[in-house]
Amino acid sequence: MPVILGIESSCDETSAAICADGIMLSNIIANQTIHEKYGGVVPELASRVHQQNIIPAVQQAIFNAKINKNDIDAVAFTRGPGLLGSLLVGVSFAKAFALAQNIPLIDINHMQAHVLAHFIGDHKPEFPFLCLTVSGGHTQIVLVKDYFDMEIIGQTQDDAAGEALDKTSKVLGLPYPGGPLIDKYARLGNPNAYHFPEPQIPGYDFSFSGLKTAILYFIRDNEKLNPDFKEEHMADICASVEKRITTILLNKLKKAAKDYGVNAIALAGGVSANTGLRQGIQQLADEQGWKSFIPAFQYCTDNAGMIAIAGYHKYLKGEFVSQEVAPLARMPF
Ligand code: KG4
Ligand code: ZN
Repeated sequence: MPVILGIESSCDETSAAICADGIMLSNIIANQTIHEKYGGVVPELASRVHQQNIIPAVQQAIFNAKINKNDIDAVAFTRGPGLLGSLLVGVSFAKAFALAQNIPLIDINHMQAHVLAHFIGDHKPEFPFLCLTVSGGHTQIVLVKDYFDMEIIGQTQDDAAGEALDKTSKVLGLPYPGGPLIDKYARLGNPNAYHFPEPQIPGYDFSFSGLKTAILYFIRDNEKLNPDFKEEHMADICASVEKRITTILLNKLKKAAKDYGVNAIALAGGVSANTGLRQGIQQLADEQGWKSFIPAFQYCTDNAGMIAIAGYHKYLKGEFVSQEVAPLARMPF
């Protein structure tokens, strides 16, 4: 019954989790609110806050799991991709902990871990399935053939979907990260109030930079006529933006699933917390007779639970790394 400590520090969440025999016993996530006033993550500040939070997060994860640190059989950590200074904190902690406890180290690719979050809990997909991974830094359609046999078949050519949501919210004067607020306002608005263009990108790739500019111009032009336009129409704007972004994502996912003959579709990454996207994938699956999978909310945004479950599956394969391991800001699958 392997007990795995998972560590995540790739961006602005410091997280630690304990997983025993594939069952999640704890998942502690320390959010960094310091970035709100800057409208985006400040890398130097992120690594400093990770440094402060990492030991308390691990202690809390061990406490909540009702285990002793000597019960831990291996440490799994996010090696990349991510902010180098942030990754370094988690990697250094993992190395020190593994050395002190004389246990193996397991390196995990953050984007693979988002996909493997589906293997936490009882509702697990069967292989193969397609996973739409949407976060602040990535937008990918991944063909998942096995735990560590994944292929990116489509991705964004510029901005990520989460970035488009965060930048839209900035233009709307909402604090960072804007995705959750756009979600909140969208529930109160009319998704058909305004029409934004759907980019025509071949294959399964995405582009959000044109849409972002269209939204910016739309708000600017309307504010010339009515300076209170944003405030008066916040809910309708958010609902219309959310609808456009979710239809872009789901249309590509539908096309990929049909072309690849895959009948199971899944969501992963921070944007999969979005209510409209969650409803949309469910509806698509129902229409097509496919199965859909969405991780529990706490495993959607960055979290160490997904690192621990990925670590558990690597542990079973006996795939460990040495103390020489270094973080990778860019880490291919
Ligand atoms: O996966 P994640 O926590 O971090 C990255 O690796 O980027 O994703 C963060 C992204 C942000 O862009 C945030 O605005 C978005 O996920 N997000 C949401 C919601 N919750 C988080 N976007 C839309 N609706 C939400 N409810
Ligand atoms: Zn992420």
